[in-house]
Amino acid sequence: MSSSLVTVSYIAAIILFILSLGGLSNPESSRRGNLYGMIGMAIAVLATIFGPRVTGGGIAWIIVALLAGGTVGIYLARTVRMTQMPELVAFMHSMVGLAAMVVGYASYVDPTSTAGLSPAEHSIHSMEVYIGVLIGAVTLSGSVIAFGKLAGKISGAPLALPARHYLNLVGLLVVIWYGREFLNATSIEQGMTPLIIMSVIALLFGIHMVMAIGGADMPVVVSMLNSYSGWAAAATGFMLSNDLLIVTGALVGSSGAILSYIMCQAMNRHFISVIAGGFGSGGGTAPVAGGDAQPAGEVVPVSATETAELLKEARSVIIVPGYGMAVAQAQHTVYEITKFLREQGKTVRFGIHPVAGRMPGHMNVLLAEAKVPYDIVLEMDEINEDFPETDVSMIIGANDIVNPSAQDDPNSPIAGMPVLEVWKGKTSIVMKRSMASGYAGVDNPLFYKENNRMLFGDAKKMLDEVLAALKA
Ligand code: TAP
Repeated sequence: MSSSLVTVSYIAAIILFILSLGGLSNPESSRRGNLYGMIGMAIAVLATIFGPRVTGGGIAWIIVALLAGGTVGIYLARTVRMTQMPELVAFMHSMVGLAAMVVGYASYVDPTSTAGLSPAEHSIHSMEVYIGVLIGAVTLSGSVIAFGKLAGKISGAPLALPARHYLNLVGLLVVIWYGREFLNATSIEQGMTPLIIMSVIALLFGIHMVMAIGGADMPVVVSMLNSYSGWAAAATGFMLSNDLLIVTGALVGSSGAILSYIMCQAMNRHFISVIAGGFGSGGGTAPVAGGDAQPAGEVVPVSATETAELLKEARSVIIVPGYGMAVAQAQHTVYEITKFLREQGKTVRFGIHPVAGRMPGHMNVLLAEAKVPYDIVLEMDEINEDFPETDVSMIIGANDIVNPSAQDDPNSPIAGMPVLEVWKGKTSIVMKRSMASGYAGVDNPLFYKENNRMLFGDAKKMLDEVLAALKA
């Protein structure tokens, strides 16, 4: 394949990636968006493999790598459960970081990558390697810790080392100092020491940055690491002089940054402090993922039959799904109940919090999978004002996103986070298995409100019973 044909293919791939991102911004066009992305990626991979830069035995290596990576990818995609998606995404981010690091080292030790470069070009290449490895290392270790936190293997409580901001600052200064040493190095051997020292510091920084973040703020971390992985890919593109990788990395990096900004607004956090890392523990009680918060007060439990009665009497219903709906895989029964109630002439809508579940868009994906019509799935801002006119709010496996202490308790770890104001409706019904707290580890005063009822049990099982009682 000639280099001009490769360039044309790369431009086609870039256009398809942009169309893909555009498609993914709306559930109705997201399938099309995915298709564009897949076609774009296929073109990109084929053009690279058959392009002039891959020669001789290189193809064999690429095929071996494709088979190995493809097999692992297919296996993971087929076996991963919906609730493990966020961990899978964090794992993939870590792979991008690792790739950027490995490419950086390889490109530094490979004499052909700098052959024929002028001194100025040589310095630019060294800078690309140094920055690429730096971003890659932070992305790698940060994503591994995020994976551990999301999978519950590492405590969600923020790790607040004494003088942690100073530690980060010292780390940064050391990285800049060794960057100078690296650029001034006259041989590969001489440059290796600063590169390795910087890699270790960057890996430690990534660990420290994500460890310092409290459970409730993990959504921002997930989207931020998404952005970092894009920049790591762009850095790899610079090292390999691959325009497609630079553009694709920049697309992922900037869309991840925009998503982080949206997440920050949803969580009422400052974007700059997120970028700097080490946030989310300020002021309040340290949140503990999985929750040790002690319940306080009396609750009113109800049965599935009583829930069905309340729904039969209601004219307007708002369903608020959360992480527990994903765990229970209750979305199909939720759809059946919605369909039944709508057939009875009731208004049924969904209220989606931007950080419901464990990844951006988690609830939208589940509801779309269950074929819930898009026009009754509303964002928090679109529906929050309607709770006072709502007869029944069904909260299915959600907790933090409906916690009134975000508004009432300035010392709460989730203070200031906008929440769905379900308690303003006539009756709210919380479906969950126990009195355990949500991801942020804080008790929820909603449970003890006079107009709140608790339907204890697995969401799928209880909703099946509610559906049976409705139809009886
Ligand atoms: P959570 O606050 O985590 O609450 C989920 C609730 O579901 C739990 O209290 C749990 O109570 C219940 N549950 C679990 N399994 C269940 C089952 N099988 N049946 C019924 N209930 C079940 O979830 P949320 O309200 O969706 O809020 C999301 C939280 O995750 C926020 O704190 C957010 O910051 C954080 N987070 C979000 C993201 C993104 S990007 N969305 C990423 C990381 C973290 P029981 O154990 O009593 O059943």
